[in-house]
Amino acid sequence: MTQHNRSRGAAAPPPMGWEALVAQCRRCSLPAAAQPVEWPADIGGIAAEAVAPALQARYAPLLAPVRQRPRVVAQLGQSLDGRIATATGHSHYVTGAADRVHLHRLRALCDAVLVGAGTVVADNPRLTVREVAGPNPVRAVVMSRSGLPADAALLRDGAAPTWALTGPSVAAPAVDRRFALPDLAPATALQCLAAAGVQRLLVEGGARTVSAWLAAGLVDTLYLVVAPVIIGSGPTGLNLPRIDHMDEALRPAVTPFDLGDDRLYRLDFNAVSA
Ligand SMILES: NC(=O)c1ccc[n+]([C@@H]2O[C@H](COP(=O)([O-])OP(=O)(O)OC[C@H]3O[C@@H](n4cnc5c(N)ncnc54)[C@H](OP(=O)(O)O)[C@@H]3O)[C@@H](O)[C@H]2O)c1
Repeated sequence: MTQHNRSRGAAAPPPMGWEALVAQCRRCSLPAAAQPVEWPADIGGIAAEAVAPALQARYAPLLAPVRQRPRVVAQLGQSLDGRIATATGHSHYVTGAADRVHLHRLRALCDAVLVGAGTVVADNPRLTVREVAGPNPVRAVVMSRSGLPADAALLRDGAAPTWALTGPSVAAPAVDRRFALPDLAPATALQCLAAAGVQRLLVEGGARTVSAWLAAGLVDTLYLVVAPVIIGSGPTGLNLPRIDHMDEALRPAVTPFDLGDDRLYRLDFNAVSA
């Protein structure tokens, strides 16, 4: 576009701060007492006036209107050698403090956060928004066989609704809503969550769950955070069906961002039409 055309066109909308991003995605505003105060520390030393455009750029896939099916974003934090934990399962913390803030931002921008039962057993996560101002998402747990520990935080804290997506024959844990599905294929789970009103979904882990959703072609955007550490053994993050030729490899559009000492790669698999 030439300078002449730009001056005649509509002015670009002002960049949105955190409050406006939350309002756009969740259709709610932050309570006055919860105005964000935490930046710019989490965004890699960017000057305060540049924070709004930086956040808008990082979370752009969540800001576009949702049309045919819910928008699905996933997140994984891994080492340089692709590990998400040690061989004993110790994973606190692979990535740094800035990644935790970023993860809480993703939770705040999404209606629901989905994890596999393995993550609840291993980490006992709360899946709430604590590092930034913002609303909690619904917490959805997928489980095919195993139950959840009765003292799991997300079953007891009452901080947000907890839903269970189970096979038809699994005993229902004490959740706010249970969906007994014919199968736990990601497409079936997504259809169920869409019918329940979810428009923006964060698939937060663990490895099996994120890999299954990616293999199913249902992850629109993967936020992959790489920490400058080598673990050398232990589980890897992404494990997809075998391919034989490089031309079968996934080649998403990749946008890198600084995230404290870590590097965030936003991988966009499905172009979002505004
Ligand atoms: N670094 C990170 O970003 C990150 C994030 C989260 C978790 N983690 C780590 O990841 C590890 C846990 O990951 P994980 O791969 O072992 O487990 P997971 O993905 O959390 O959970 C796997 C379980 O979820 C259920 N499940 C999920 N999708 C399913 C599907 N499509 N079909 C059938 N069942 C499905 C099954 O439950 P059943 O057992 O009932 O069959 C399965 O065993 C922990 O060490 C945790 O610390 C790392």
